[in-house]
Amino acid sequence: MVAITEAVSLEKQGEIGLLWIDNPPVNALGYPVRKGMADGIAMAMGDAEIKAIVVICKGRTFCAGADIREFGKPPKAPHLPDVLTVFDECTKPVVAAIHGTAFGGGLETALSSHFRVAVPTAQFGLPEVKLGLLPGAGGTQRLPRLIGPEKALPMIATGNPVGTAKALKEGLIDEIVEGDLAEGAVAFARKVLAENRPLRQVSAMNEKVEAARGKPEIFSEYRKVIAKTKRGFEAPEACVKAVEAAVHKPFAEGLAYERQLFTELMSGSQSAAQRYYFFAERQVAKIPDIPAETPQLDIKRVGIIGAGTMGGGITMNFVNVGIPVTLMESKQEFLDRGLATIRKNYEITASKGKMTAEEVEKRMGLITGTLAMEDLADVDLVIEAVYENMDLKKEIFAKLDGICKKDAILATNTSYLDVNEIAAQTKRPESVLGLHFFSPANVMRLLEVVRAEKTSKIVLATALALAKKIKKIAVVVGVCYGFAGNRMFAQRRRESEKLILEGALPSQVDKVVYEFGFPMGPFQLYDLIGNDLGWSKENSTGSTIRELLCEQGRFGLKAGKGFYNYEQGGRKPLPAPEVDQLIIDFSQKKGFDRRDISDEEILQRCVYPIINEGAKILEEKIAVRPSDLDVIWINGYGWPLYRGGPMFYADLVGLDKILAVMKDFQAKYGDDFKPAALLEQLVKEGKGFKDLN
Ligand code: 3HC
Ligand code: NAI
Repeated sequence: MVAITEAVSLEKQGEIGLLWIDNPPVNALGYPVRKGMADGIAMAMGDAEIKAIVVICKGRTFCAGADIREFGKPPKAPHLPDVLTVFDECTKPVVAAIHGTAFGGGLETALSSHFRVAVPTAQFGLPEVKLGLLPGAGGTQRLPRLIGPEKALPMIATGNPVGTAKALKEGLIDEIVEGDLAEGAVAFARKVLAENRPLRQVSAMNEKVEAARGKPEIFSEYRKVIAKTKRGFEAPEACVKAVEAAVHKPFAEGLAYERQLFTELMSGSQSAAQRYYFFAERQVAKIPDIPAETPQLDIKRVGIIGAGTMGGGITMNFVNVGIPVTLMESKQEFLDRGLATIRKNYEITASKGKMTAEEVEKRMGLITGTLAMEDLADVDLVIEAVYENMDLKKEIFAKLDGICKKDAILATNTSYLDVNEIAAQTKRPESVLGLHFFSPANVMRLLEVVRAEKTSKIVLATALALAKKIKKIAVVVGVCYGFAGNRMFAQRRRESEKLILEGALPSQVDKVVYEFGFPMGPFQLYDLIGNDLGWSKENSTGSTIRELLCEQGRFGLKAGKGFYNYEQGGRKPLPAPEVDQLIIDFSQKKGFDRRDISDEEILQRCVYPIINEGAKILEEKIAVRPSDLDVIWINGYGWPLYRGGPMFYADLVGLDKILAVMKDFQAKYGDDFKPAALLEQLVKEGKGFKDLN
């Protein structure tokens, strides 16, 4: 074994040279790997004994792509496309031996090899688009040549990987290795030599791309798909253009075009946001005083109280990963209704062919319904999801304390209430925390883990590990009204409601917020959630627009009318001139001198107070770091990923500009816009939120 760089070495097994890559944790293609690969091929070429080369990785995976940490810094030669040209043009056969994930530049390395073999569990993908990029080392030119543009397009433009079986079927790999990968790959290389097989240079395979010429519908149809699913994102369109170039241009020209598109995307703000988010999502799990080795409790059975909207969805999370649940309700009819809803959800999934009927029964079989709290005596974790009522929650926690086993964790799914106060009802406040799921709880990936004053480290570490197990992105937050997400969200709610009193109409506010990149504007969202949330006829005072709408039965989408009108069964908001008139009349009656409000002001008022509240949350140490707030907003509130989250966006706009606008609004509209001390301080110090991550 000869070391070529600190990350690459060359081993000789007879006439086969094994180029080993060892760059933990994921063999990213950083400088020592690129240099080692280029020099390693040169060394193997210069060694007359070596007749074929196997490229193989140590550790958990084949190369997972370029080293994202190097992006944004001056690139250091040898550049990956040049290294891969060396692979492509190597006159001895190069076999890529793949395990784990051949992603991004890793898959491009495999595509530049002459043959590919893989273990049955390997995955193949070009996820660059998820980083706001496109494959920049020949992936957009080689993959369509190997498997055809129709199959390559979705892989490149969605970034979703395929497994070994599909890869074999589509011709992406040549053979599956069942046993030891190195042995199997060496045997494959020997077979190539013995059979004197010609080198299969993917760059020279033109048959499949030529067959796609004169079929523009391949691209126009796909553009329709991304227009719907990837609205606002720049990278997917660049991916389509690059594959189009693969079809219409010679390889070298296509490669140059890919490079041009890659460079443009790399220097843009969308990719910067998406790369930032990649690390933010991984950073969020790291809590400074909870080291990875913190002991954890074993959660074998979960108890859930309340089988309503949230309790049902929360239950599904656990049974989906095989953890049995005892689901407790106050009345048989509510329990039956809750169980029926869960079953219906699974049956819908099954009807789409995504789950078998046996699997539905298996999951339902993991749920034990009960009306007796005593049945929670043996669970390791309870999640309470009853009505948002402090007295009720306190009563439940006091009872649970007497029933549950000694170190069972007691969690509440409250949206706003004081978790310290709830914990104080028990003799084990160290075992109490908030687990704030988002609706629909079986779908939304965000989970706010509310760390109360006395929550123990073991309990927190257990909750974080469990969140990962049920595939949630857990963000640790402290106790305050609405925690981090809803507290910031309340700012937009207040401003949206004020804006329609001052002169805007719901459709204008919604258009601005939608065009910024949210899936929908605030008023469409209110209609979706239901305007009657927390409203009752008896207590209606008629003093807000929302109450007036409820008094007219305009509860929102479910009633077919709210801020907008809806066709029966339709979800598309249609104009409701009667509501616009109601708003105009009401605001005038209230003494507002309605004015034209610019789109710019609407956007600033819907977004800057969110950022300002985020700054307050950081000041109060409710959140660990600014990027955690971005993770919350992207996963829980529809903030467009390509804008990186409110705190990232704030740095992009410039904190000095945001502060100046907030001060201007404060002077005009009052203290709702009072700048956070942290915002003032960062501006004074010439810093950004990024300096606090
Ligand atoms: N560059 C640098 N660091 C990377 C990395 C990369 N490409 N991929 C993963 N890492 C780091 C992570 O940040 C994490 O670091 P940490 O432990 O310090 O937090 C560590 O490796 C482990 O990663 P995960 O926690 O994500 O581990 P998993 O086992 O859950 O997932 C994975 C492994 C599937 C490989 C996942 O990390 C992944 O999807 N990585 C990104 C792959 C990617 O986007 N590749 C394309 C890069 S762009 C490119 O190749 C451009 C080219 O076309 C020119
Ligand atoms: P829901 O009204 O749909 O469900 C509450 C359920 O609790 C009902 O089925 C009710 O019968 C049951 N229940 C009431 N008292 C009980 C008792 N003593 N014992 C057992 N069951 C009892 O309410 P939803 O929306 O599921 O909310 C539950 C909690 O989750 C609240 O604290 C809420 O703030 C929070 N939450 C709600 C979200 C949402 O979008 N709906 C999002 C995140 C949190």
